[in-house]
Amino acid sequence: MNQSVETSESRDALRKEKRTENLRRAAEEEKRMGRTVAGCPFRTKFHIMPPVGWINDPNGLCQFKGVFHVYFQYSPLSVHGGGGYWGHCTSKDLLRWEYHEPVLTSDIPEDQSGVYSGSALIEDGKMYLFYTGNVKLPGDYDYIDKGRISTQLMVSSEDGQHMSEKKKLLGMEDYPEDITAHVRDPKVWKEGDVYYMILGARARGREKDGSRRDRGGVLIYVSEDRENWELYREIVPEEAFGYMWECPDLFELNGERILSYCPQGLEHEKERFQNIYQSGYSVLTQAEDPVTSFTEWDMGFDFYAPQTFLSEDGRRILIGWAGLPDTEQTHRNLSVSNGWQHCLTLPRELTVKEGKVFQTPVRELGSLHWQSPNPNEMKGDGTCDWSGRTVLLEVSGIAGGTQEIRFGKAGNALTIRVQDDLAELSFLDRDGRLSECGGGRGRRIGRLAGPVRELTVLADSSIIEVFINGGEMTFTTRIYLDRDERELSVSGPGTYSLSVI
Ligand code: FRU
Repeated sequence: MNQSVETSESRDALRKEKRTENLRRAAEEEKRMGRTVAGCPFRTKFHIMPPVGWINDPNGLCQFKGVFHVYFQYSPLSVHGGGGYWGHCTSKDLLRWEYHEPVLTSDIPEDQSGVYSGSALIEDGKMYLFYTGNVKLPGDYDYIDKGRISTQLMVSSEDGQHMSEKKKLLGMEDYPEDITAHVRDPKVWKEGDVYYMILGARARGREKDGSRRDRGGVLIYVSEDRENWELYREIVPEEAFGYMWECPDLFELNGERILSYCPQGLEHEKERFQNIYQSGYSVLTQAEDPVTSFTEWDMGFDFYAPQTFLSEDGRRILIGWAGLPDTEQTHRNLSVSNGWQHCLTLPRELTVKEGKVFQTPVRELGSLHWQSPNPNEMKGDGTCDWSGRTVLLEVSGIAGGTQEIRFGKAGNALTIRVQDDLAELSFLDRDGRLSECGGGRGRRIGRLAGPVRELTVLADSSIIEVFINGGEMTFTTRIYLDRDERELSVSGPGTYSLSVI
């Protein structure tokens, strides 16, 4: 046996050993904490949540042989994140999910500090997953220019659960000169005979006075065989629009080209960019410069890192992370004491109308067995007790007054308030104090192009999603009400219908 075969064999043995150990530790933690998580009043019914620990970005979204697969950034070993795994769940209806063993773990040198976000490509009955292997070298580094290694990798699968060996596609030697070590989150698609890969990146930059000001952007690579990739375009605005863009996506929708990305480092404004990091889209057909048409995907407290995929029946579906990184200083998730944190949004169908992307809950939601609340759930004052139920509220005919929807009891509630072209989500009580159920969240506002006419609100235990005017604007927020505090009241000029399940 020659030397190189021996080395590759021992490397493979080491990888398998590491993977087995990683999976054993995850399973042990899922077992140890399973009952606590299952008993948590905040667990969701139709929204993907971590079996235990922490979840962040949705990854590898696809429909494969009829089944929907969602992979996700998963930290079973710590409720505060840290990564290390791609979790996996499947569904036939995008609403009820079955959880499986994680498919990727940190088990090769190239992904020793994280199996970061990525995407799926389905071709000829096979699934290909693309992701970023992250390495943070131990030492005194800035982890921007030095100390970080970002590698783009691929695995393939016949069944969505068992993965082939990891194959390196791009490494530090393949990125343009002006790009720092932050290059990640490959989204791959095919057009004609050509494969495209878009990556989020951070370019080195300077202010006029010489001080450092990095610029976010994307890199697009092309390939003819899925394995050998060449740089095709580098899109980095001259004038910085954030210092880093994460989780890019590029897709066609009703004849428009949509670029989705998550810029970090934008200045907060009163009615825009209210969260720590942003995520939004640009309609590329409207302008060469993506920044001029940037629109935020969601105006709520909890939305980041969305990804889209095409279902087998041709729908463009988006799922976001109903959470954000680095929010420990501003607000909390009260599920942490029960061993889990964060969830994903409901899958949303996208359409373009007049150059704007509209988001509506997937149509499968309408096929659930919704019922009117029982008389004993309705109180004399018009409030509804929704403890233990998922709520779908539709309000129409709003124009011409203030419409208020309150989840919770006075003093500890979330109020959704719309008037004219303004929509607001607020955890503040009458005296301006923060409600406990917001975990520190305050107020978010969004201004629409015209008056608010109608609203759809979905409340699934600890997550509320608001869709305004047929999905022209959405708000996603987490809410932590004890079961006996789950009341809902609606007031204003609109007529409403309420369904529960
Ligand atoms: C976005 C992100 C991605 C990265 C992943 C790591 O939330 O920072 O850029 O791949 O999370 O978990």
